[in-house]
Amino acid sequence: MIVLASDHAGFKLKEKIKKYLQKLNLEFKDLGATDTNSVDYPIYAKKMALYMKDRAETKGILICGTGIGMSIAINRFYYIRGALCKDKKTAILCRQHNDANVLILAGRNKGTMLHYRKIVKAFLNTKFLGDRHQRRVDMLIDLAKEQN
Ligand code: RB5
Repeated sequence: MIVLASDHAGFKLKEKIKKYLQKLNLEFKDLGATDTNSVDYPIYAKKMALYMKDRAETKGILICGTGIGMSIAINRFYYIRGALCKDKKTAILCRQHNDANVLILAGRNKGTMLHYRKIVKAFLNTKFLGDRHQRRVDMLIDLAKEQN
């Protein structure tokens, strides 16, 4: 399952990505926003984090204007590893090395839809490499838990 959320600045890109996922016959759930009226991105990051709790197989796609606000917000949850990706290479590496479970995109970037499709496809199709990377991911989870 794939879960999507955005604020107003990410809304249009979220809608385009939904069409792409439909084309690929992939199941998804949209947690909003529902239009381009101004909303607060932490609310949508929280919605996604709560939805993903105890759903280990779920991957998220989260979008705001720059991707930065959503990155800060979503990474406050110990079981989330959100990665702001600007190209296919970073989308592959965030899966292989960081076991990222949320792809974060910048809706106000000037990327073409082909560019975003490549990022989404790489994120969804790349497997975590485990091994030494698992140890580091475990350290990240411990770090986050220490703060709570
Ligand atoms: C909204 O104007 C904008 O601040 C938001 O989408 C995001 O870029 C924040 O980091």
